[in-house]
Amino acid sequence: MAWLGSEQHKEVFCREFLDTHQPYQVATLRWPELDPASRERLRSLPFWDEAVATERTTAAKVQAQTALETDPLIRRAVALQGAEEKRHSQLLDSLLRAYDIQPAGAEALARPAAVGADIEWAFMRAEYGECFDSFFAFGLFAMAKDSRFFPAALIERFEPIIQEEARHILFFVNWLAYRRLQLGWWQQPVHLGRRLTALTVQAWRRLRTARGMDDEHFTVRGHEAIALDISPRGFLELCLRENERRLGVYDRRLLRPRLVPTLARAACRVLR
Ligand SMILES: [Fe+2]
Ligand SMILES: [Fe+2]
Repeated sequence: MAWLGSEQHKEVFCREFLDTHQPYQVATLRWPELDPASRERLRSLPFWDEAVATERTTAAKVQAQTALETDPLIRRAVALQGAEEKRHSQLLDSLLRAYDIQPAGAEALARPAAVGADIEWAFMRAEYGECFDSFFAFGLFAMAKDSRFFPAALIERFEPIIQEEARHILFFVNWLAYRRLQLGWWQQPVHLGRRLTALTVQAWRRLRTARGMDDEHFTVRGHEAIALDISPRGFLELCLRENERRLGVYDRRLLRPRLVPTLARAACRVLR
């Protein structure tokens, strides 16, 4: 029997996820003192409301998915991912409070995040979203680090979030392959249809964002906010390198997210 979809595959992708969890608590984090200029720069970043909303809804969707998982090991891993997403949103709240930043749309953010009736669909959409966002966040984070746009002590606070997103997308692509291979052949077309639709809807939304048709997501505008001297191709190459580095530390046997890196490589060939 092939390794993917096997009990051993399940053990490896769940254990790798559980064993690499970092047990920090937001309440114990200290935010560094910032000079007025850095504080202003932080405040003027255009993506706080979107960042908070994304982390909150992702947490709600992943937590809802936990209840659907019948396998105890997978359930533990999905529950842990939900807890990590919740911690991301708490970390952002803590940062906004520490530096007295009021995100736009604070009222909408006060409402509980909606998951929708089809939980697995919501989960897949959220995770495909993470596959797109994380890829660009890896590059943005490296740029922010190199540019000294913000003090290193502040940047370091975000390192765990970025690496956790790498773990989340690694878990997701393996979960998806495992789930598909566990289904009977007669169920596979429906699963494939749902996957492709979830992927297409998510890709379409991200593309619209990239073209500036709406301002729904933050990574693309984040690039503008950091305003560095880097070409689109240079930026994609940086994202590819960082993606490789961040995902390269996990068990070699596991699947890696492939779609976004493949699209980025194709784009690099046409961009100058
Ligand atoms: Fe997150
Ligand atoms: Fe995540």
